[in-house]
Amino acid sequence: MRTVRTIEELRGELRGEIGLVPTMGALHGGHLSLFHAARAENELVVASLFVNAAQFSEQSDLAAYPRDEDADARLAEDAGVDVLFVPGAGEIYPPGFSTWVDVEDTGAEGAARAGHFRGVSTVCVKLFNIVRPRRAYFGQKDAQQAVVIRRVVRDLNLPVEIRVLPTVRDDDGLALSSRNARLSREERARALGLPRALAEGAQAHLLGGDAVAATRAALNGLSADYVELIDLDGVTILASAARVGATRLIDNVILEGELT
Ligand code: PAJ
Repeated sequence: MRTVRTIEELRGELRGEIGLVPTMGALHGGHLSLFHAARAENELVVASLFVNAAQFSEQSDLAAYPRDEDADARLAEDAGVDVLFVPGAGEIYPPGFSTWVDVEDTGAEGAARAGHFRGVSTVCVKLFNIVRPRRAYFGQKDAQQAVVIRRVVRDLNLPVEIRVLPTVRDDDGLALSSRNARLSREERARALGLPRALAEGAQAHLLGGDAVAATRAALNGLSADYVELIDLDGVTILASAARVGATRLIDNVILEGELT
């Protein structure tokens, strides 16, 4: 695996059919599943590792974001990544940068995080233009993000296929997330209320009931920003976000359809 830090160096490495996996590092099993899928489907696998300040609405969240490039590089290499792109902030947002990609409707997650998807959409379009992948890989875990990126690709006619892969969970059912490391043992136990409530919602849906109402009823004192249904190209997803102490967690389950 080659680690490159500039767009020019990166361009020198590009060849064949490329799979791109954009990440912010602090890699875990969720990211690795995307690397494996990209490895299986493309000639060259490029992963980016860039903590994108533009998508953080809370400075404390940005400052606390875990960073360990050496550990990430080892994990990426073992998972079959060929090129790791680790740009500095100035490489992505040079002085004078002033062009943004802003999707209008970004659901409850967008409403809860002002400016978040503007930062996500902009950095992803830049990465698509820099790497020119045939396919790019995203996780179901961030379902609204997948919806937004598919929207951007369609609206701007970008020549890339957006692949969305299932959420990877820990043994106890908590969706893997870089932010889980911030949970105390007691908070982690409470955080499990989120996947459990979503499972209750999915069960209610299966029985012909109201998934959103059932999820709300099962949240058991966890305070949710929202519980809502998301449509990802015909796949119906039940999604929620909850705060556990200072940590905000998101999760979702599929009610109808299958990811493609
Ligand atoms: P990051 O949180 O590092 O996630 C990178 C990719 O990994 C995203 O597509 C995310 O949905 C996926 N992912 C995270 N946890 C997962 C899990 N438990 N199972 C499966 N996939 C999972 O999402 C971002 O970074 C950024 O917004 C980015 C797209 C890189 C733009 O800056």
